[in-house]
Amino acid sequence: MIVAIDGPAGAGKSTVARRLAARLGFRYLDTGAMYRALTWLALEHGRSLDDGAALGALAREYPITFAQQDLVLIDAVDVTSAIRDSRIDKVVSSVARHPEVREVMRERQRELGSLGDVVIEGRDIGTVVAPGAEVKVFLNADEVERARRRIAERPGRAADALATDLRLRDERDAAQMQAADDAERIDTTALTIDEVVERIEELVRARQPA
Ligand code: DC
Repeated sequence: MIVAIDGPAGAGKSTVARRLAARLGFRYLDTGAMYRALTWLALEHGRSLDDGAALGALAREYPITFAQQDLVLIDAVDVTSAIRDSRIDKVVSSVARHPEVREVMRERQRELGSLGDVVIEGRDIGTVVAPGAEVKVFLNADEVERARRRIAERPGRAADALATDLRLRDERDAAQMQAADDAERIDTTALTIDEVVERIEELVRARQPA
């Protein structure tokens, strides 16, 4: 079974998807981490972030791998913490907007998603990567709450700069982000993580054979 979880930054996707996958015994695939890893490599190689063809070629040459569930590797380098840097937050949307990049990433995401029961988190999972997913969820939360969560996740960084980054990223990611018509929309603003996980678990159970 595929559980697709889409939504904007700060809606709670990563925490919810991880916990849900652990509770169900499903694998977890963080597609945002893949765009972040490619962005890290492009900066490392000094590539222009405007050159979609070159970035697509880079993505094809260096497939992203995951180890022990949570480690993200590209070109055999463990980039798990480097990809959460503010320098990546600021420019990852510029890399993710290129169709050449998205084509390679989506292929790899389908490949990684075809290995068994999985929770896949991203922006275009229910619409493009896995339109046949048995369960689709679109998480959202109000802007102030999303900024508050991002600030809590990134201690030591200026709150107003984080809120601005989030707003800019929302604008840039908008093209990629649409809820699938058959997605269950959940507003997480006033919900705990466990409440969100439980709601999705109910949807999963309803789709599982008795
Ligand atoms: O979820 P995240 O913040 O780690 O995602 C990083 C960036 O990658 C985000 O700005 C949008 C992009 N992204 C995307 O375009 N499509 C996806 N399926 C996942 C992420």
